[in-house]
Amino acid sequence: MSTRPIAPSEITPRALFDERREFLRVAAGLSLGAVLPPAAAVEKLAPARKSPYSVGESPTPFKDISGYGNYYEFSSDKTGHIGPAQAMKTRPWAVVVEGLVAKPKTFAIEDILRLAPLEERIYRHRCVEGWSMVVPWVGYPLAALLRQVEPLGSAKYVEFVSHADPAVMPNIGRRLLDWPYLEGLRLDEAMHPLTLLVVGLYGEVLPNQNGAPLRLAIPWKYGFKGGKAIVRIRFVERQSETAWMKAAPNEYGFYANVNPTVDHPRWSQARERRIGEFRKRETLMFNGYADQVAHLYAGMDLRKFF
Ligand code: MTE
Repeated sequence: MSTRPIAPSEITPRALFDERREFLRVAAGLSLGAVLPPAAAVEKLAPARKSPYSVGESPTPFKDISGYGNYYEFSSDKTGHIGPAQAMKTRPWAVVVEGLVAKPKTFAIEDILRLAPLEERIYRHRCVEGWSMVVPWVGYPLAALLRQVEPLGSAKYVEFVSHADPAVMPNIGRRLLDWPYLEGLRLDEAMHPLTLLVVGLYGEVLPNQNGAPLRLAIPWKYGFKGGKAIVRIRFVERQSETAWMKAAPNEYGFYANVNPTVDHPRWSQARERRIGEFRKRETLMFNGYADQVAHLYAGMDLRKFF
């Protein structure tokens, strides 16, 4: 995906240049490791139980899930974010949950990891750009965290704010997107049992490039709805203007439900390329989760609310 005001030809050479510079900086930092205090250790995840919400499809290999994706804070290239993302520290980490709630609270990542039993959920993951994967995420329903703060009746939407640190993220400070990366869900979407707070992948701690230490997976929506490295969750009354809506409002809507009948203005959404496969597949309505989520949108014009 791209923001319209900047053509790839304008940004790519400089992005590449800066990524190389960042790589060198990281490499230099690593060589100083002996004299720096060690980073706080990241503990292993508790065992995850299998979930009935998993799809019966073979997961995409770990090397593909961790080796291809989008993380614009680090790079606008599908693999360029991986190296630089390793420099990000994920401990200590805390998530502020605030806004229209009775009991706002800041959760340390250690507490978040123990808040509910971990589950392995094998979900379809469809990017708005037309590629897809099958991902064995580890996490638990976001609702388990959200309930802790007792949302007020006036809360209608939930915002998710990602980490933004110019010291390790080369694109913060560039006008690629309006930072920090902001996403949002309607309250009923956020509380839906499929909406997963993700802390792991393939049974292990989430790799930095996939959004460590915690990100969201909303499997019936395009991948950009799942913000990475979340630091703040805010209950609000009105629908938020998300990072991609600000960048290109006619291309990326608030709902972003996977819908093969509503094309992106610049490409069709009818089919997708499953990473590792040759032939394209038909994209399924709500990414194959229609039975579980179609009722959330009953009576809505999905061309208008795309
Ligand atoms: N979250 C942040 N903070 N920054 C991003 O650039 N990219 C989004 C989403 N979450 C993005 C993000 C997009 S476009 C997709 S498709 C998914 O992350 C990709 O996640 P993956 O790399 O784990 O597949």
